[in-house]
Amino acid sequence: MQRDAVMENTSPQYIPRLPVEEGDPATDGRMFRRCLGQYGTGIAIITTEADGRRGAVTVNSFASVSLEPPLVLWSIADTSRSRELFTSSGRFAVNVLSAKQMDVSRHFSSKLDDKFADAVWALGEFGSPLLDGCLAHFECETYSQVDGGDHTIIIGLVKRASRFDGEPLLFSQGQYSIADSHPAASPTPEASGAKPDTTAEGTIVSQIFEAHHLLSTRFDEHRRAEGLHLSIARILACMYDRPGLKIDQLAAATHLGQRDTEDAISELLERELLIGTEGGYSLTDAGRNLRVAIKARWLAFQHAQIAGIPEADLRATIRTLSKLIDQNKMAE
Ligand SMILES: Cc1cc2nc3c(=O)[nH]c(=O)nc-3n(C[C@H](O)[C@H](O)[C@H](O)COP(=O)(O)O)c2cc1C
Repeated sequence: MQRDAVMENTSPQYIPRLPVEEGDPATDGRMFRRCLGQYGTGIAIITTEADGRRGAVTVNSFASVSLEPPLVLWSIADTSRSRELFTSSGRFAVNVLSAKQMDVSRHFSSKLDDKFADAVWALGEFGSPLLDGCLAHFECETYSQVDGGDHTIIIGLVKRASRFDGEPLLFSQGQYSIADSHPAASPTPEASGAKPDTTAEGTIVSQIFEAHHLLSTRFDEHRRAEGLHLSIARILACMYDRPGLKIDQLAAATHLGQRDTEDAISELLERELLIGTEGGYSLTDAGRNLRVAIKARWLAFQHAQIAGIPEADLRATIRTLSKLIDQNKMAE
């Protein structure tokens, strides 16, 4: 399209923003996946059983389709070892993961031979395994299958849906996350006419969430200034402290998904920040220098953030945060 034509079809307030990256997915698959990662999803384990064989895969392609009839869909890669079982069994269950099940997600996205050996599960009434501790189960009959390029889209007719208490596990921008209500979506005490709660008890937890969100967004600017995004920065930090790790160990240590770890590693190799050896991966001198630079930015960032806050206040904050972390770790 010509530039003049673009301007004609643009509202007067429109100010063009430069994308961080853009291009043709056919020639830049990693860019495409990072763009897709901007769309946050939940995580589910899809399970099936037929003729004494069981299959399970971690997916974030699950989506609702129709209410009448009740249909859901997900897609399975041609490379998945359990593809044949899923496309022939005629049934499956969707196990929606809770925020406490990040390890379950990792377990079922691995290449273990028997993923059920260490799992807690029971066969559901409609013939597919149901995992313990999930937020929801959808027990399905396969309704149809559609060719989806290098995936097969599997549509299921939901025979039974069950919901349990808990918070969802989410996946966005290549990393696991948990949900927090948007501050603008929570009804303010002012709006309801109630007096705002300014006590420590009434504000501390929401203040922690807000501080975390603001600080991590602000530090992102520093990462970008060094040409890094979050997954690359995590891999760099991990490789700096523990050279020689293999992909699986890196994915576990950085809490990134397998695919994002692989993408980050390919990018680091291309940028000659990393080299692969028989014993695993190690940073090059340039990689180590970059890690040192980002760490220096982090220290300066911390220093600037806490400047002027009395030492006693900082110590009290650390005590409170440590207590909250400890008691919630114990509750897991
Ligand atoms: C967050 C996340 C989402 C995934 N989503 C999908 C998906 O939608 N479809 C798929 O085929 N594989 C997906 N995978 C990869 C599979 O989980 C993984 O390749 C699979 O479990 C390997 O199983 P296999 O034993 O059948 O080969 C995802 C992995 C992760 C970590």
